[in-house]
Amino acid sequence: MAKPVVFIPSKIPEEEKVLRFLEEFAEVDYRDEEEMLDEEVFYEGLQRASGLMIYSRNKIRSHVLDRAPLLKAVCNIAVGYDNLDLNELTRRGIAATNTPDVLTETTADLAFSLVLASGRRLAEADHFVKSGGWNGWLPSLMLGKDVHGATLGIIGYGRIGSAIARRAKGFNMNILYNNLVREERDEQELGIQFVPVEELLQRSDFVLVQVPLTPQTEKMISDKQFGLMKKDAYFINASRGGVVDEAALIRALQEKQIAGAGLDVFEHEPIDKTHPFLSMPNVVTLPHIGSATWQTRAKMAMKAAENMAAILQGRRPVNLVNP
Ligand code: DGY
Repeated sequence: MAKPVVFIPSKIPEEEKVLRFLEEFAEVDYRDEEEMLDEEVFYEGLQRASGLMIYSRNKIRSHVLDRAPLLKAVCNIAVGYDNLDLNELTRRGIAATNTPDVLTETTADLAFSLVLASGRRLAEADHFVKSGGWNGWLPSLMLGKDVHGATLGIIGYGRIGSAIARRAKGFNMNILYNNLVREERDEQELGIQFVPVEELLQRSDFVLVQVPLTPQTEKMISDKQFGLMKKDAYFINASRGGVVDEAALIRALQEKQIAGAGLDVFEHEPIDKTHPFLSMPNVVTLPHIGSATWQTRAKMAMKAAENMAAILQGRRPVNLVNP
């Protein structure tokens, strides 16, 4: 019997190991591409695919699924899965999976580095030196905000939120959080304090949002929330751009309602070359690199491959996300 085809339209790190694993049970159509495939080339691959292994830059909606007559599995190489129309996948009997756990610590490293970079103006200072602006030590040069001892408010306290709190604890930060459920173990072990969102926004020096993008969280941070923040507080987001009303964030920054922002994610990625953030020195902008280390991306690809194996071999995948 012919093996099912697994289509991987993008480059994956340590591909040899992953491909060898997949080839045990599938024919693998692997495209060693950094850039997105041309749409028609993607659809050609999809036509034969029983399994699809993708990053979250590939949006899988109804019109895409119409071009995938054999598809049984979509395995995201990402923890977030807002790129997938889950209801439509489920309706068509297609299983979907994500890759939690393996990227938790790496993403927390990056999110916490945005706290440091924002408070201590790292990107701005680097640009200042490299562009030849540094002509001498000045008493008020690049004064920033202390991170140690400051109050960090974490909105959305899942695995990554908890890993960020552990880092913040090492910096002797006072940690507030808000979440759908209480995390009593972390409350006891890390001394984090559960507070209503409004109180978190009012008291925090750094407000960090770490929630998945869903219809419930879309634009959950908007004018009202920025209006509650302290004028010298920073807003940090390494989850999904869509959870923030970007126009409201731009207003808050322009009207100096808050001190600055550290952002790894945006409403539209990549952001437009004329986006207002790009001319704001108090906004650190990163190109969605939360999980971007060699080790972690390799682990994510392997986890996606394991989920693929389970589905195509008739077992329940560990990381099934269909409702
Ligand atoms: C994730 O895993 O969700 C990262 O943000 C990459 O998309």
